[in-house]
Amino acid sequence: MASATAIVRCCLQAPAKLNLHLELLNRRSDGYHDLETVMVAIDLCDDVSVQLRDDHERTFHCRWSPHPTGWRWRLGENAQSTAFCLPSNERNLAWKAAESVCQTLGFEEGFAIDITKRIPMGAGLGGASADAAGVLVAFAQLMELDPCSESMMQIAEGLGSDVPFLVAAAAGTMSGCIARGRGEQLQSIAVRKDLHFVLLYPPQPLSTKEVYEHSRVPSDPLGSQSVVDFLCGDLSRPKTAFIHNRLQSPACELEPQVVRCLAALRDAGAMSVALTGSGSTCFGLCRSAMEARRMARQLSCQGLGIAMAVRPFNKRANNNESA
Ligand code: C5P
Repeated sequence: MASATAIVRCCLQAPAKLNLHLELLNRRSDGYHDLETVMVAIDLCDDVSVQLRDDHERTFHCRWSPHPTGWRWRLGENAQSTAFCLPSNERNLAWKAAESVCQTLGFEEGFAIDITKRIPMGAGLGGASADAAGVLVAFAQLMELDPCSESMMQIAEGLGSDVPFLVAAAAGTMSGCIARGRGEQLQSIAVRKDLHFVLLYPPQPLSTKEVYEHSRVPSDPLGSQSVVDFLCGDLSRPKTAFIHNRLQSPACELEPQVVRCLAALRDAGAMSVALTGSGSTCFGLCRSAMEARRMARQLSCQGLGIAMAVRPFNKRANNNESA
């Protein structure tokens, strides 16, 4: 059994992700799709804290920041109430992550998990996966283990397709990746720091499963090379509409608000716009931080959803407490 070390509390940032390329390659018999996707971790983060307890109690608290009332106020009267219903402990992916890691490592002590959520749900930003990833990284640090070891990545993979990348991102070992398989086979890419995006999250969340079910695997899949060259700094200017997401069409069919958000981002002058993941968040690539902030202000006034300017995630030192 692994034993806990002198660190008794680990607090870290769990970043969201954007998909700058997502192509479907094959529909599998296990209900998943083989795909090729390019992901970048962004500085929209949930806060995850895991504290060891002496009394063998295991607790889990998750709250929104701002409070759901604030989110609804920002999203307007169309906000679906389900967007802020956090799943009960047993159904919460972060709690499942804690259970899996304790079972695998034979950890029998008590702990308290506290999560402050800023990444919206049903948004294609990997919010639930980010929390699960944050919990895995925190446990790894409490037990002085490598969060990106094969066994930790196996736990991550079992929790969800995006979790392995978000573990590597929260641990600070990857800023971006090309992911293959169902999203778990990672190839790290060094993402340039001078990237600026504007996000537009509409009040209508989308179900990942439903969007995939409505998708079509193309006979002539699009490769990710041009976006990878751009992200790694080999291309100063992207070609028009170079961000590609095969899930965009089914998401637009399921939720017309996505069509409006994409059009608003284009009209605001973004260089390239797309849906992230299975949506419903849309995003645009901007030329500068100032332009991203200006577009976020402009889009916020249009009543389509919450707009914000984001950059690639830059990992800060964890705020740990020792015994
Ligand atoms: O892996 P995750 O639990 O996040 O996936 C949620 C759903 O999205 C899956 O049940 C599946 O329907 C769909 N999916 C897929 N192919 C992938 C990833 C997800 O079809 N590569």
